[in-house]
Amino acid sequence: MNSTIAVVGTGYVGLTTGAYLAHLGHVVTCADVVPDKVERLNRGELPILEAGLEELVREGLDGGRLSFVLGARSAVEEAEFVFLCVPTPQGDDGSADLTYVRDAATEIGPLLHPECIVINKSTVPVGSTRVVEEALGRDDVFVVSNPEFLREGSAVHDCLHPDRIVIGSDDQAVAMRVAELFERLRAPLVITDPASAETIKYASNAFLATKVSFVNALANVCEAVGADVREVVLGMGHDRRIGFEFLKPGPGWGGSCFPKDTRAMVRIAEDAGYDFGLLKGVITVNDEQYERMADKVERVLGDLFDGCRVAAWGLTFKARTDDLRDSPAIQVIRRLQARGADVRAYDPAVAEAVTPRGAHLDGIATSTDPYAVCEGADVLIVLTEWDEFRWLDFDKVAGLMAGARIVDTRNLLDAALLRRQGFTYVGVGRD
Ligand code: UDX
Repeated sequence: MNSTIAVVGTGYVGLTTGAYLAHLGHVVTCADVVPDKVERLNRGELPILEAGLEELVREGLDGGRLSFVLGARSAVEEAEFVFLCVPTPQGDDGSADLTYVRDAATEIGPLLHPECIVINKSTVPVGSTRVVEEALGRDDVFVVSNPEFLREGSAVHDCLHPDRIVIGSDDQAVAMRVAELFERLRAPLVITDPASAETIKYASNAFLATKVSFVNALANVCEAVGADVREVVLGMGHDRRIGFEFLKPGPGWGGSCFPKDTRAMVRIAEDAGYDFGLLKGVITVNDEQYERMADKVERVLGDLFDGCRVAAWGLTFKARTDDLRDSPAIQVIRRLQARGADVRAYDPAVAEAVTPRGAHLDGIATSTDPYAVCEGADVLIVLTEWDEFRWLDFDKVAGLMAGARIVDTRNLLDAALLRRQGFTYVGVGRD
């Protein structure tokens, strides 16, 4: 059955949610507070780089099932379901800041149809379903938690092929009405209470961050004992209890979710009287990883480090996104700069930036040409796993550099080939 849906907030989660719900046949109105963004979205112009999303938005616009409006008011009046997809940034004390969630709920409360279901997709601490209920100020509407697990770079795929759909509600009938929205996805359903649903989101991100910190710590051990972390992960991953996913060592994890959600989880536990030491350790390992990557550059240059020139490939927090928020690449570059290195950076997504860069790159010299940044460089550091880096002309790179040295923080490149070409090559967790 097709439903009338409003989506409040058109960030990564809101925009993708609106577009795929329209794709599933529902009639969706997405609201945002930025006039220019709304205008552009109605023309099918996207504010983010996300594979397949533009096609999905266009399909919805052309089919008349998707539209964008300014302000939540005009979106929610006709809606049977309202998805709250507003940001929950990190507050000063590490906890999630619920201001946007509260404000949106307060604004739409008086306008909702009786029996309307408000679905919270924003990542919110345990107990936030109650916060939304209070802000709505209505006893004839329902609030449900429905956390989102999409990854940037594969958001459309993740939404259309979810591993599971989690619905948190104390009212089984209401949960089933929400489940029907997604029935065409044929995904496993987890219907649970609101507190558990809210915890599932934080726990999932915290666990994934733990896996990455574990493999990064393991990579350090491998370097010390002469093992190769890639072989070790291969040997571990065949054990189905462990698996292969999220065990790629790198410069540390980042992005718009892991850093804020791990800190929020620590804070949630603390507020509940539990010291989540394990997760604090996971965060510490990550912070240290940025320093370790800078250490690698310093080691490979030795006496040449003072006043050195560094070429950096990669600025986004991972490949296939243009998102620079909490990017490990930028963290490493800032540390190199603090130690006196002159860094020039290239990133394919930043060269053709869709998303405004904001202040993320302040003080970082960038170029739109991967070769230009290598001119006169003493070392090249690879910070994001863009596939296209593998296919660049390394003879040309060597010719441009002052010294043929590569620190590959993603183990992306072919070490043997590069060594044959005369490079000194340093990876992560291998010799
Ligand atoms: C994450 C969760 O995966 C997603 O379910 C949730 O909804 C939002 O947060 P995202 O932030 O898009 O998604 O990034 P993800 O692909 O999970 O990567 C997070 C970070 O870990 C990146 O910096 C990435 O480079 C790093 N990472 C990931 C590794 O270093 N190694 C790995 O093996 C996997």
